[in-house]
Amino acid sequence: MKAIVVGTGYVGLVTGACLADVGIHVACIDIDQEKIDRLKQGILPIYEPGLEEIVHRNAEKGRLQFSTRLDEHIAGADAILIAVGTPPDEDGSADLKHVLNVADEIGEKLQDYAVIATKSTVPVGTSLKVKAAVEAAMNRRGQHIPFDVASNPEFLKEGAAVRDFQSPDRVVIGTESERARSVLEQLYKPFQLNRHRVIYMDIASAEMTKYAANAMLATRISFMNDIANLCEAVGADINQVRSGIGADPRIGSKFLYAGAGYGGSCFPKDVKALIHTGREHGQRLRLLEAVEAINNDQKQLLFKKLQAALGKDLQGKQIAVWGLAFKPQTDDVREAPALSLIDALIKAGAIIRAYDPVAVEEACKHIPHPVTYTRDEYEALEQADALLLLTEWPEFRLPDWERVKSLMRRPLVLDGRNIYNPAQLRQQGFEYHGIGIPL
Ligand code: UGA
Repeated sequence: MKAIVVGTGYVGLVTGACLADVGIHVACIDIDQEKIDRLKQGILPIYEPGLEEIVHRNAEKGRLQFSTRLDEHIAGADAILIAVGTPPDEDGSADLKHVLNVADEIGEKLQDYAVIATKSTVPVGTSLKVKAAVEAAMNRRGQHIPFDVASNPEFLKEGAAVRDFQSPDRVVIGTESERARSVLEQLYKPFQLNRHRVIYMDIASAEMTKYAANAMLATRISFMNDIANLCEAVGADINQVRSGIGADPRIGSKFLYAGAGYGGSCFPKDVKALIHTGREHGQRLRLLEAVEAINNDQKQLLFKKLQAALGKDLQGKQIAVWGLAFKPQTDDVREAPALSLIDALIKAGAIIRAYDPVAVEEACKHIPHPVTYTRDEYEALEQADALLLLTEWPEFRLPDWERVKSLMRRPLVLDGRNIYNPAQLRQQGFEYHGIGIPL
């Protein structure tokens, strides 16, 4: 089999590499010449556990190629997977410019039958727009090559992308023809060893499934954050409440962690886009509007907690930040709580010393303010009036607390991911605040 993956971002690169790894001949295409040149040298644009090895292995075997030229690779492709970005437009809707540009180019260059499947997260109706764009390009060139469109949303998580792709909970395939279904069935056949489920459905439902899944997960988080804040007010402990409700199999224990708010390139963008789709169709998604509002407030919660502890005026206060990435095992800082918090703190006159095991380079690009990035977590603590834990990297879980205390000016810990034991820290002389943990 031969597949083309257009777009070498998170989804595209992981998809291309993992498909090549099961023996499919894959060409990864991107318009970014520099990125492609680097990939050819084996340099990856993202940090993702296990990915580099797979890319190197398959590139060496010649099964995984990188190019800016779709036309040079399109002949004989059974499937073309579109995995380019869909950044939010100013109004919150998904910007389909890149997806439709790719569709146009496919229409110009296609030589024989292929399934054109959209992997990017796109609003309902996009696959039909892709179809129209491909057809329009073919009409321009006066040649009609048979093709099918399909929706094949990706559910992988950053930080666990390779594992998620190789053994997914499910693969969702939306098609409108038997031929397309059978091509995609072949493509994912090698992964059936992992006994995952392939769920076939119509195209619109597949497109909606992706948004509904992310919206549901974001809802769980905002729900827990809301309940956590109430827990704190009434003297209950969100961790205990989580264990209690998670034991009900109808609720389940995953994705129920209260914290400093959800970030990343997916939840914030997809919740916004779905709200926008709702508005376009005269359906206000009030629950999701609340999910978004709660999350925006939650990202500022630690700022308020800091003011409650140190006083309203944060001018000149030294704040240590542990963790910049939106979650562990990634260098991605997009929409990370650390960004908006650091912005607010610096505007309030605070001085920031921050450490993250891998995300400093990305953070520098996104944080316009002067921040001192340190070489390790302890250096960030020097003379600190408070420590803010924002990403639950494993190496932050068991610090040498005596050393932490000796470095700080004031032993104040604000745990934005509830990873520490409040009783233990308080016993060791720290002032500890978590999210939804009683004082
Ligand atoms: C998310 C989904 O989990 C994937 O299934 C989906 O494929 C992906 O978006 C996407 O649409 O591409 P991702 O953004 O990589 O994946 O990260 P998650 O692990 O879902 O975490 C998102 C945010 O929620 C993080 O900031 C995390 O700290 C926060 N979170 C997660 C919580 O605050 N509490 C939880 O219980 C779980």
